Amino acid sequence: MSNQLAAEVSSRKTFAIISHPDAGKTTITEQLLLYGGAIRQAGTVKGKKTGKFAKSDWMEIEKQRGISVTSSVMQVEYDGNHINIVDTPGHEDFSEDTYRTLMAVDSAVMVIDSAKGIEPQTKKLFEVCSMRGIPIFTFINKLDRDGREPLELIAELEEVLGIDAYPMNWPMGMGKTFLGLYDIYNKRVELMHPEENGDNDFLPLNEDGEVEGDYAFKQSTLYEQAIEDAQLLLEAGNDFSEEAIANGKLTPVFFGSALTGFGVQTFLDAFVDFAPSPSAKKTESGEKVEPLEEQFSGFIFKIQANMNPAHRDRIAFVRICSGEFTPGMDITVNRSQKKMKLSHTTQFMADSRETVKAAVAGDIIGLYDTGNFQIGDTIYSGKQAIQFEPLPQFTPELFNKVAAKNVMKQKSFHKGIEQLVQEGAIQLYKTYHTGEYILGAVGQLQFEVFQYRLMNEYNAEVVMTPIGSKIARWIDEADLDPNMSSSRNLLCRDRFDQPVFLFENQFALNWFKDKHPSIELKSLF
Ligand code: G4P
Repeated sequence: MSNQLAAEVSSRKTFAIISHPDAGKTTITEQLLLYGGAIRQAGTVKGKKTGKFAKSDWMEIEKQRGISVTSSVMQVEYDGNHINIVDTPGHEDFSEDTYRTLMAVDSAVMVIDSAKGIEPQTKKLFEVCSMRGIPIFTFINKLDRDGREPLELIAELEEVLGIDAYPMNWPMGMGKTFLGLYDIYNKRVELMHPEENGDNDFLPLNEDGEVEGDYAFKQSTLYEQAIEDAQLLLEAGNDFSEEAIANGKLTPVFFGSALTGFGVQTFLDAFVDFAPSPSAKKTESGEKVEPLEEQFSGFIFKIQANMNPAHRDRIAFVRICSGEFTPGMDITVNRSQKKMKLSHTTQFMADSRETVKAAVAGDIIGLYDTGNFQIGDTIYSGKQAIQFEPLPQFTPELFNKVAAKNVMKQKSFHKGIEQLVQEGAIQLYKTYHTGEYILGAVGQLQFEVFQYRLMNEYNAEVVMTPIGSKIARWIDEADLDPNMSSSRNLLCRDRFDQPVFLFENQFALNWFKDKHPSIELKSLF
């Protein structure tokens, strides 16, 4: 292992931003890119203001809807750190890919709208991060607007998500009266209006936790209030623990306003101090692969098709787990034992794709794929075979019946479904009694992408009939009784032939549980 590789790997901070739509993920991403000098002007990530989607040739459906299907990866250098921000799509484009993206990061930043608190999508994404035990950093956003009481927000965070919180800083007021941050961690105040306070952005706290001298902001009761709140938190709240942060048991909480950029750098400085570099990754046999091992290895967490319609290309996203990637290197796909030369690779920036020169553990690269890769595949260089743990599957919540529109096209319909399901684009079930196909997804867009791709790539038009949301629960083969199937609890088999019930609602699920107490009903993650 070279010292240079060790330095490169330890500088990697690979994270995702998790939030409910509109909490400010894009705005804060832009700010982070600005600090890293990756973009010159905020507003270039989504190009929302001009209504123009950033320079990209993503698939048609994406352009039509003005949303990003892709979890693209943005890279910035900051203070000696090489930061990879992996985007997690929101809104209707929420899908299993969004969840799987979280398998490829080492930490997460949770952005919360201070007026809204914990929203449903934040909770879902948090749970996936929490399952992995990765560190979660919280940024409570939009302090330039009136929001909910900070103490109330902290309490909600702890109660709804079940994680301990440690406020790194505390707001002095909010909205029109927002004075700035009482920064507990850095022992200073950070002022929203330096011009009113002798042009000071920051003023240190003395041993009593107060700012010395005569400043305009000190006239406000909000300053006193922040000191009181901070005292209360220090006495009655959780202790700061680097270890608890690293295990994902304690989330450091930062306040700020992404729109004005206030508090973002303070957050970023602490984030790079505490966010972990890539760590060892478990293989199927329980051994661990260290990031500094010479042997290159990685796993595929996402496959994006048709990123460029002119080329009909597919890109497999690889999270590098060990060693160094070099262009043209030889690798083996463990599942198929196929050997390949990696010559067509790409790294991602906000709105352009560049050819990768070198990448190390922690980085994410895109491989042009002609059908060699599947989600969950492990690839490695050299002779020692590696297979990482399988990626978790996520219980779908939305369902559609699907059939070929034209009976003459059954063959391409079946081929298309089989391949897209294998790729992990969508889940497939077959009703036990009638053998009809049902598709399951965690987000609506997965259906649209499926329909679009079947048409464009397999020339098979489909008819989809929404059957609404269901609760999917798996049972053991031994418990299977075909008579238990009804419209309220539809018995199906998944693509691995495992029996699964699709319950109409929670009521139907509870009813079934009461009636068959001995049957264990299992959900995926
Ligand atoms: P998202 O990616 O999480 O969906 O959120 P995004 O950053 O697009 O922000 C959603 C809206 O919230 C945007 O306003 C954005 O300007 C606003 N916003 C983000 N951070 C802050 C903040 O700190 N303070 C305030 N006051 N607003 C904030 P929009 O009107 O929907 O879009 P736009 O037309 O302004 O871009």
